Amino acid sequence: MSISQTDRPLTSLGILLSGRGSNFLAIAESIRAGRLKGAEIAVVISNVAKAPGIEKAKELGLPHAVLVSKGLKREEHDANVMACLRAHHVNLVCLAGYMRLLSPGFVAAFRHRILNIHPSLLPAFPGLEAQEQAFAYGVRVTGCTVHFVDEELDHGPIVVQRAIPVLETDDAGSLAARILKEEHLAYTEAIGRVVSGEYEVRGRRYVKNRDQAAGNRE
Ligand code: GRF
Repeated sequence: MSISQTDRPLTSLGILLSGRGSNFLAIAESIRAGRLKGAEIAVVISNVAKAPGIEKAKELGLPHAVLVSKGLKREEHDANVMACLRAHHVNLVCLAGYMRLLSPGFVAAFRHRILNIHPSLLPAFPGLEAQEQAFAYGVRVTGCTVHFVDEELDHGPIVVQRAIPVLETDDAGSLAARILKEEHLAYTEAIGRVVSGEYEVRGRRYVKNRDQAAGNRE
């Protein structure tokens, strides 16, 4: 028997960003449009004052906070962020262009409750400028990955990947723009999967729960 999403307690998202915020806006729009039932945005946090993404959160009337990381040790900043997430009862953290590595203490406190989006098909091209890396390497297929965050960079268990071909007419900019469109779809899909609760993480693998998957087909 499946449990409908409305029977579940709400998943409270904490969005962490540093810049433009298009993935955050895609998530917010999915919730507004009813595509992410069972999820709400509890708080949007930026580590950069005046990041366009945090200005958008203000405009949307969402709870938001600027917690500037500059000048602080990683653990100090992360303690501030975790306190803010807890104050807003966040139970799923979504990194959306958050340009900071998380301390091991942060990762452990939210084990398998932190998602990140990366603009390549991991494990290819981790780190900065993944789209440019893929273009320069000459791959014929690339895409994006939403994964749980672990202690290593762009590394944890993969929840969703979306692939696109690299076209003859592409340059690094056009490729990045087409990947970004896929990112916006992938993040909503991944959050929906986590919100459903119908999975387990076995080692590195995200595995859909068979009993519930079978029940859903009945
Ligand atoms: C995206 O390409 C994401 O994959 C990467 O940082 C970028 C953030 O873009 N982690 P935006 O701020 O969500 O528009």
